[in-house]
Amino acid sequence: MTQPPPPIFRLRPMRHDDLAAVYAVEQAAYPHPWTEAVFLDCLKVNYCCWVGEIAPQIVAHGIMSVAVGECHIFNLCIHPQWQRQGLGRQMLRHLLALALKRNATTAFLEVRTSNEGARALYAAEGFCEIGTRRNYYPSGKGREDATVLARELTVFYHDSGASGS
Ligand SMILES: CC(C)(COP(=O)(O)OP(=O)(O)OC[C@H]1O[C@@H](n2cnc3c(N)ncnc32)[C@H](O)[C@@H]1OP(=O)(O)O)[C@@H](O)C(=O)NCCC(=O)NCCS
Repeated sequence: MTQPPPPIFRLRPMRHDDLAAVYAVEQAAYPHPWTEAVFLDCLKVNYCCWVGEIAPQIVAHGIMSVAVGECHIFNLCIHPQWQRQGLGRQMLRHLLALALKRNATTAFLEVRTSNEGARALYAAEGFCEIGTRRNYYPSGKGREDATVLARELTVFYHDSGASGS
C-alpha cells in the first residue's frame, strides 16, 4: 500500500489576521502563554514574526528580533499535535537563516530551565548555555529560572527561503 505524502509545512510572515489562530496555538502549547496583545505588539514593532501552516491551519509560530549584529529568539512554538515531527527545528533554522541574512553573527534566547524538550532541540542546534536569569518566568510554584543560550551564526544554514519580515 502506498503511504500518503507527508504534510507540507509552509513558513510565511505573520499577518494581523493570523493573531487569533496564533494565540490558539500559543495557548495549546504553553502553560503560561503570551497574550494576543503581546503578539500584536511584536507585529507593531516589526519583529520577525513568522507562522508555519499545514493547510488550512496555522500550527507554529516564531518571533525574533534582529539588531546590531545579534538576533534574539523570543518565541518558538509548535502546536502539541504536531510536535516531534521536525517542525520546531525547521522554524528555528528558518529564523536563524533570516538573522544571518540580516548580518547577525550571534543568536540568543531564554528557555525555562525545566523545558527539557526545548533545551534538547537548542543543544542539538548548537546553542550553548551562557547564563541564568533567576526567577524569570511565572510558574505553578511561583517563579522559575531561565537558562540563557547563545550560538554563533557563522556556520552556514540551509536557506529555507528566508525572505520577507
Ligand atoms: C520545543 C518545541 C519548539 C520543539 O519543537 P518540535 O517540533 O516538537 O521539535 P522537533 O521535532 O523539531 O525536534 C528536533 C529535535 O529536538 C529534540 N527534541 C525536541 N523535543 C524534544 C522533547 N520533547 N524531548 C526530547 N528531545 C526533544 C530532539 O533532539 C529532536 O530530534 P528527534 O525528534 O530526531 O529526536 C516544541 O516542543 C514546542 O513548541 N513546545 C512548547 C513551546 C516551547 O516550549 N517552546 C520553546 C520556548 S524556549
